[in-house]
Amino acid sequence: MGTLTEITSLERETAFKNEALKVIYQRRAIRKYKDISIDKNSIEKIIDAGRMAPSAMNRQPWKFYILTNKEEIKVFSKEISKAVLKGVAHGIAKSGLKGILKLGKEILHFPHATDFFKLEDPVFHGAPVVIFITSPKDNEWAVLDVGMCSQNIMLAAKSMGIDSCPVGVGKFVEHTKIYSMLNIPNTEQVQLSIILGHGDENPVPNERNKNNVIFL
Ligand SMILES: Cc1cc2nc3c(=O)[nH]c(=O)nc-3n(C[C@H](O)[C@H](O)[C@H](O)COP(=O)(O)O)c2cc1C
Repeated sequence: MGTLTEITSLERETAFKNEALKVIYQRRAIRKYKDISIDKNSIEKIIDAGRMAPSAMNRQPWKFYILTNKEEIKVFSKEISKAVLKGVAHGIAKSGLKGILKLGKEILHFPHATDFFKLEDPVFHGAPVVIFITSPKDNEWAVLDVGMCSQNIMLAAKSMGIDSCPVGVGKFVEHTKIYSMLNIPNTEQVQLSIILGHGDENPVPNERNKNNVIFL
C-alpha cells in the first residue's frame, strides 16, 4: 500500500512537468469555501469541459441544473440534510441493528460524515455554485457517463483555480419538498451534484491504495 509521502512526492515530481497530471494530483474534495462568487463565463467554460467527456454510444445523457444564489443554496442544503436524516432513520428502522452497525462503519470510514450533524451547511459546505447533473432514467450507461463528465468538470475547474467536491448526497434532493423548483422532468434522475468555489482549506490527499494493479 502506498504512503502519503509517496503521493505528495509524486505530486511534487509531476507538478512542473505535465499540466494535466498537475491538475489531477492537485484536485481535492474541498468542503470549506470563501465567500467569493464564480462568474457565469467560468461556469460555462467548466460545463463545456464536462460536455467533452466520452459517453456510451455518444448519447451525452447529461443535463446540468445550476444554482448560484446563496440563499437558495442554503435552503436546498437544509432540505437535503433533512431528507438525508429521514433516509438514514428509515434505513435503520428497516434493517435494525445490522443497519446501525453498517452506518456506524460508514461514518467511521468517512471523517466528514461525523460533521454532518455539526456543520451549518453539511451538504454544500457554503459553496457559491451547485450543479445537479441528471440523466434519462432509461439509460443504463448514464451513471458511468456522468461520472466521466463530472471528473472533467472538476479537473477543468481546478485548472482554472476553482475548487470542487462531488456531493453524492445531493441526490436526496429528489426526496425534498422543493425538488419541483429545479424543474427537472420526471423522465430524468439526479445522478450527482458537484459544488464549485474558491476553497478555504488545503486538506492532505487521502492515501491511495496501490495494491490493486495486476500486470498479466
Ligand atoms: C460519487 C461520489 C460521491 C461523493 N459524495 C460526497 C458527499 O456527499 N459529501 C462529501 O463531502 N464528499 C463526497 N464525495 C467526496 C469523497 O469523499 C472524496 O472524493 C474522497 O474522500 C477522496 O478525496 P479527494 O477527492 O480529496 O481525493 C463523493 C465522491 C464521489 C466520487
